Amino acid sequence: MKKTVAVYFGGRSTEHDISIITALSSVIKPLEMAGQYTIIPVYITKQGRWISGPKLKDISLFSSGKIEDFIKKAKPVTVTFDGGFMLNKTRIDINFPAMHGSFGEDGSLMGVFRMAGIPFVGADMDSSVIAMDKVLAKQVAEANNIPTSKFVFLTRDEFLADQVGETAKVAATLSYPLFVKPAHLGSSIGITRVTTEEELHNALEVAAYYDNKIIVEEAVANLIEVTVPIIGNKVPKPALIERPLATADEFFDFENKYIRGGGKKTGGAKQTGSQGYSELPVVLPEGLDDKVLQTAIATYKALGLQGMGRVDLLIDSKSQTVYFNEVNPLPGSIYAHNWRAAGVSTVDLVNELVQLAEQRFSDNSQLNTTFSSSFLQQF
Ligand SMILES: Nc1ncnc2c1ncn2[C@@H]1O[C@H](COP(=O)(O)OP(=O)(O)O)[C@@H](O)[C@H]1O
Ligand SMILES: [Mg+2]
Repeated sequence: MKKTVAVYFGGRSTEHDISIITALSSVIKPLEMAGQYTIIPVYITKQGRWISGPKLKDISLFSSGKIEDFIKKAKPVTVTFDGGFMLNKTRIDINFPAMHGSFGEDGSLMGVFRMAGIPFVGADMDSSVIAMDKVLAKQVAEANNIPTSKFVFLTRDEFLADQVGETAKVAATLSYPLFVKPAHLGSSIGITRVTTEEELHNALEVAAYYDNKIIVEEAVANLIEVTVPIIGNKVPKPALIERPLATADEFFDFENKYIRGGGKKTGGAKQTGSQGYSELPVVLPEGLDDKVLQTAIATYKALGLQGMGRVDLLIDSKSQTVYFNEVNPLPGSIYAHNWRAAGVSTVDLVNELVQLAEQRFSDNSQLNTTFSSSFLQQF
């Protein structure tokens, strides 16, 4: 019998649109090609309404703008928890979140699925929460002896209460150039590279506009930036080491990643995709490949990731130090292009992700979560 898989996308996130592409082209299509599943698309609007229907599998509904009308007419889905997960009265076997950023990748949705008691693809709630907080992720990495660039963090409230004092405190602790980032956002939104105290102050103001927690970190010099997609639960398996390539901008920003999607090629194994263009696999100085893979896998384990993830690393090519930068539990397009280059078809990839979800669920089911006591009998 075919398993019923519900695929979630869209959502109240700055990466709403990217999630639609991830879901339709890298998840739903290959799941359908696998031939073993009945797919139910669940689109979460920017306002947070959940709607469903087979038409949502068609990208032209979104690209034509007809989605607005569709949303107006659609009935919201009903979800029932009854020792499982029912969606519009259909029992779902596996949930597949294909969402990025807030409310999708950050543990919120995973919490709902845990409550319902249903297997779901990708990282669990706790590691998603940690992964999507740049401060927490770095703290966990540091506690596991994984190098990260030196950083401090402050809350929005602390900054707003004493802007000049807080700016001076950061400036006194770290050495320029610095990166100022909202702790929870992605796609380079609200991130600034600064070299003076005045710029630092402005950058903190920008970050405080987006987030209630701000991280400031020292820039890695002689930078080679790489990313390593990984799948697996107990035994993490890496794909190829990929180097995203920035163009004229000083660092890899939203436009480079998703909009420009190409540019002047500079030789080597370049390829374009939803993530801009990149060198795949990257050719690194002797000995660095192993170090990169070890750091990526150590980080994946330290953060407790399961299912899939993509670990981003910053290399100082002079000192050959590999620093952990950030981790995405649900990378855009599930990084299918990299897995394909590594010899894993997208159909095999989604099949494996579904199996990993079932394996984790069955492992967790062995845990005892109830306890009999005579406590109530006293009353
Ligand atoms: N400490 C750093 N040193 C050098 N470059 C950095 C540093 N932190 C971030 N960057 C640059 O800024 C980009 C965006 O930062 P990142 O932390 O990856 O945020 P996002 O979640 O938006 O992708 C990185 O891809 C990298 O090019
Ligand atoms: Mg990044």
